[in-house]
Amino acid sequence: AAIHRADYRPPDWLVPAIALEFDLDPARTVVRARLEVARNGEHDRALRLDGEELELLSLAVDGQAVDPQFEDGQLVVPLTGASAVVETEVAIRPQVNTKLMGLYASGGLLCTQCESQGFRRITWFPDRPDVLSRYRVRMSADRQRFPVLLSNGNPVDGGEGPDGTHWAQWEDPFPKPCYLFALVAGELSVNRDSFTTASGREVELGIWVREDDLAKTGHAMRALKDSMAWDERTYGREYDLDRFNIVAVSDFNFGAMENKGLNIFNTRYVLADRETASDADFDAVAAVVAHEYFHNWSGNRVTCRDWFQLSLKEGLTVFRDQSFSEDMGSQAVERIDQVRTLRAAQFPEDAGPLAHPIRPDSYIEITNFYTATVYNKGAEVIRMLRTILGPDDYRRGTDLYFERYDGQAVTCEDFVQALEDASGHDLTQFRRWYSQAGTPTIRARLVQEDGAAVLHLTQSTPPTPGQADKLPMVVPLRTALIGRESGREVAGEQVVLLTEAEQTVRFEGVTEPALLSINRDFSAPVIMQVERAAGELEALAISDTDSFARYEAIQELALRELLKGIGGGEVQADPVIAALRSTLLSNALDPAFKADALILPSETMLAERLDQSDPSVVHRVRDDLRAAIGTALRSELEDAYAASSRADPESLTGEDKGLRRLRAATLGYLAAADPERARALAAAQFDAARTMTERQSALGMLAMVGGSEAEAALGAFYERFKGDPLVIDKWFGVQASVAAEDTIERVEALAAHPDFTLANPNRLRALAGSFAATPFAFHRADGRGYEWLADVILKADAINPQTAARFVPPLGRWRKVEPGRAALMRSALERILAAPGLSKDVFEQASKSLG
Ligand code: ARG
Ligand code: ZN
Repeated sequence: AAIHRADYRPPDWLVPAIALEFDLDPARTVVRARLEVARNGEHDRALRLDGEELELLSLAVDGQAVDPQFEDGQLVVPLTGASAVVETEVAIRPQVNTKLMGLYASGGLLCTQCESQGFRRITWFPDRPDVLSRYRVRMSADRQRFPVLLSNGNPVDGGEGPDGTHWAQWEDPFPKPCYLFALVAGELSVNRDSFTTASGREVELGIWVREDDLAKTGHAMRALKDSMAWDERTYGREYDLDRFNIVAVSDFNFGAMENKGLNIFNTRYVLADRETASDADFDAVAAVVAHEYFHNWSGNRVTCRDWFQLSLKEGLTVFRDQSFSEDMGSQAVERIDQVRTLRAAQFPEDAGPLAHPIRPDSYIEITNFYTATVYNKGAEVIRMLRTILGPDDYRRGTDLYFERYDGQAVTCEDFVQALEDASGHDLTQFRRWYSQAGTPTIRARLVQEDGAAVLHLTQSTPPTPGQADKLPMVVPLRTALIGRESGREVAGEQVVLLTEAEQTVRFEGVTEPALLSINRDFSAPVIMQVERAAGELEALAISDTDSFARYEAIQELALRELLKGIGGGEVQADPVIAALRSTLLSNALDPAFKADALILPSETMLAERLDQSDPSVVHRVRDDLRAAIGTALRSELEDAYAASSRADPESLTGEDKGLRRLRAATLGYLAAADPERARALAAAQFDAARTMTERQSALGMLAMVGGSEAEAALGAFYERFKGDPLVIDKWFGVQASVAAEDTIERVEALAAHPDFTLANPNRLRALAGSFAATPFAFHRADGRGYEWLADVILKADAINPQTAARFVPPLGRWRKVEPGRAALMRSALERILAAPGLSKDVFEQASKSLG
């Protein structure tokens, strides 16, 4: 049963206030809810409350007990007046809640996750984001087992109760949808700090973790304070409560959750120290802390009217966290990482059976729409709006948005309208980015004549499920022309706004032969196909004045050769080698950029550019080019590898992180050229490693080249970190990411390891997610990888459907794969669909994937 955006109706009943009382106990928690409800408009419809797996103990209206009536799983309460007090009492069982939605137990703690529809697993309530309520929460629990009791807002009262219990009461003055409700109870230690807002409010900050993890919270706390200051500076947004708490839990379905005043995080995005976290982990912690904090305005103060509007808060908040990371680190390097993520995760989604617009039109299970499209393409759409409006009008627009809609549940349309009203820009056609799925392809050609350069542009967007014909999009292309001889910008950067299916743009006064530098900084999330003159990419690869475009030229150069090779042609390694040599030897480029430039287009990206391909051919052609590069640049790579060892292990500056990244990239090439040499280098690096970054990359390399050194290193790594789940996740992930024929056997063995469990999402992602993201291993020709994944999906579905469904999309890529494997992928999907008792989460993903 699909739900459609067009069917939206405002709620019949509002709930301006709710009081909740929890008698917390993992085995059986009793929840008493007192809802003040108010009729919304003129109608005579009953109040309908959502609930799931609740044992109803009592129901009363205005103090009178009422016999419950149920319809389609909802509790139906007929009411006569304009308002009423509805009281329910239910029992729930956190201990056996393996879905990790609602109130559940994780490592001795009790915690909640309500977005999107978990609140209905806690109490009867109109579980939709456009019902906003003031919350008062009283929790009581055994004092020994649950010394800390937290909820949203501010603590207002507390004390001793009977039989060794204690209680606490919290109040949140800001009306919020129920998906932002949270509570946590348990034995937690706190890292406390404070922040003074621009207007002088003292905010008490707390990061709550298991006692042993307290020393790993410093980085998250710094990131939190940086985020608070950044949002004041950049968006004029201040924090609004006296408390801001973050709690880390080990069992969590995704990264983190922005509950008002009480963010709950996957430990993975809070805990970090030099011994256990890589540079990438440190960066991810800072980005997710920022993301959740920024939701306080983009998501909480202004929330979503319905779940079709999810990108209203997620696209905007991802864009905000990306901008934060760019400001705190290196802009170019951050941008390259963002684009790499988009291409790895979102482009395939947009080109496949699960393609949907950033504002979807229908869904079966909303949880399946927390996608790279809604999040990352959504962020690209906001970025384009800023590019088109310019930073000042964009800021005027967001100011108006936050002011106009503060305290309301609104739509993507409202956001665009605010930007339009504040800036005077007409965004009518731009709105297609919200409604049309699919990645546009832009073709570009530069023709020079009579002292001018003429840029010919065309655009087209391929059909996607349910959308056969596409209209032209508004595509902002940052463009500059660079003199072939002079290396100077003969036409300075400007934003070319492509709005038609075909369009030409003239640049006057361009006499020197020019190189076309287009979609600079990846100003639009599109696929560019530029008709290039001979030698043009080679020249841009060493001289483009935009770092991102320079990176892109190197990628294009490699992509061109790789696609040729996959098509059976002969690969010319020389131009790629030349571009990488001058990149490696440049004194002007920073090490992180060099490392990025060295990484060839991924196998996934290559497969995306082809109608159909054989994953082993894609892998071999790419590997051959890597080997050719590694051989030709051996001495430059050896030098860069050696020089990068000077990185300061204590430091997280861009320079030092960049050096470590370059060390990993150069080691990879040395291995491609000479596995023996790499084995020796990696073994030495593993033994001498002073950071997790070096240790993990050495371990990955050893696992790749195999042999007794690999087994020894894996054993040593396991022994050293066996008490630390986040590091053991790496141990699983490294082994499941080996691009080899026999990885599937290794993965099957790991699934039987005593440390493996389907019940912990991080562990499951570490094994199954890493494996499915390694094309050469996953696509073994006999289909054993597909079968294994299908089995895992079915087993996990019985425990945690939401997380199980996340592993279906890799099987849905069958259209892009040669017919033999495609048939095996389809039969794995068919087997999933035929299984009895399938969740709707997995059903939706598998049935859509099959087509
Ligand atoms: N709002 C959270 C975040 O992006 C993620 C919640 C995911 N919920 C879900 N049902 N998948 O910060
Ligand atoms: Zn978010």
